[in-house]
Amino acid sequence: MVAVFFDKIVRPALYRVNGNDPELVHERTLRILSRLGTVSPALRALRAHYGTANPVDVLGLRFPNPVGLAAGMDKNGRALHAWPALGFGFVEVGTVTALAQPGNPKPRLFTLASSDAVINRMGFNNAGAEALAASLAARGKPDVPLGVSIGKSKVTALEDAVADYQTSLRSLYPYADYFAINVSSPNTPGLRELQDKSALAELLAELGATSAALAAEAGRTPTPLLVKVAPDLSDEALTELLDVCTAHGVAGLIATNTTLSRDGIASTDAPVGAQAGGLSGRPLTARALDVVRYVHRHTDGKLPIIGVGGLLGADDARRMLDAGASLVQLYTGFALHGPGLVRRINRGLAR
Ligand SMILES: Cc1cc2nc3c(=O)[nH]c(=O)nc-3n(C[C@H](O)[C@H](O)[C@H](O)COP(=O)(O)O)c2cc1C
Repeated sequence: MVAVFFDKIVRPALYRVNGNDPELVHERTLRILSRLGTVSPALRALRAHYGTANPVDVLGLRFPNPVGLAAGMDKNGRALHAWPALGFGFVEVGTVTALAQPGNPKPRLFTLASSDAVINRMGFNNAGAEALAASLAARGKPDVPLGVSIGKSKVTALEDAVADYQTSLRSLYPYADYFAINVSSPNTPGLRELQDKSALAELLAELGATSAALAAEAGRTPTPLLVKVAPDLSDEALTELLDVCTAHGVAGLIATNTTLSRDGIASTDAPVGAQAGGLSGRPLTARALDVVRYVHRHTDGKLPIIGVGGLLGADDARRMLDAGASLVQLYTGFALHGPGLVRRINRGLAR
């Protein structure tokens, strides 16, 4: 009943009222979900409808099902307890940066309805790592694995990126089940250069050392560090990146972030397609799958992969898992089609 109300009444109403402003829809959805997170009977009812048990053990963690919420949807961890109730088997909050920042000027989020796609140039609008830590301390962790995505503050020079990531790692170390090191957003100038061999080697060495020290202080094993990559790397650049990741003991890869390519956009969406930013959704499906397959083969299947990019149905998710991913994530599919999609994918995979 609650689920039907949410899917058939609340979501369509949000779109009717704010449909021409996807960021407003996003903001209002987060507000509703954040409130919902405090109402236990509603969470139980949603979970009864959307929840799927299909456990996966990877990264030293147990995931109740393999379908996670991708980074960017809940940057500041506002709706932590609603996501598992909507069927997600894990949640990645962030990307947060050491310093709070407003992101790029609006409008910065565009729906390409005929293409099942989104373009965004949000630019890591977030309340900062400390604020996320406070929110996690106050709300408590969700009862599914929690990933925390960290990136570089815009005002921090690229040469000082390591310290910026370290600050976020330290603040959030007590809360994360894994960290996603985001070096692949196209919307922070220069960020993708951190995917280059020597810059990445330095970043991973320093973050690895910081993580080891924090874990030793807490008397436990280090939290897994994963690297999130762009879909726009050449095979050669990806090979170099993978070699650096393997050499530095990275626990896994998240493939992929949004693309700068504009292939696969329907002609009716062409004007919106000209907006600057990262493209996600259906136009990304094939490329993200190729990257996952390449990573799996190149690492002999030894590096756990979270597959993300253009997953809009159970068949897409199945192909991602068959290509070598252990887990998958959604952003655009969820934003455009709601939690019913999470349920359909999970039920399809469980079959
Ligand atoms: C509006 C928006 C904001 C995003 N913000 C982030 C972010 O902060 N950090 C990140 O790693 N990825 C971010 N992403 C990328 C998604 O996590 C995901 O990698 C990408 O959209 C591909 O998946 P999809 O096709 O299911 O959306 C964002 C995507 C969108 C659409």
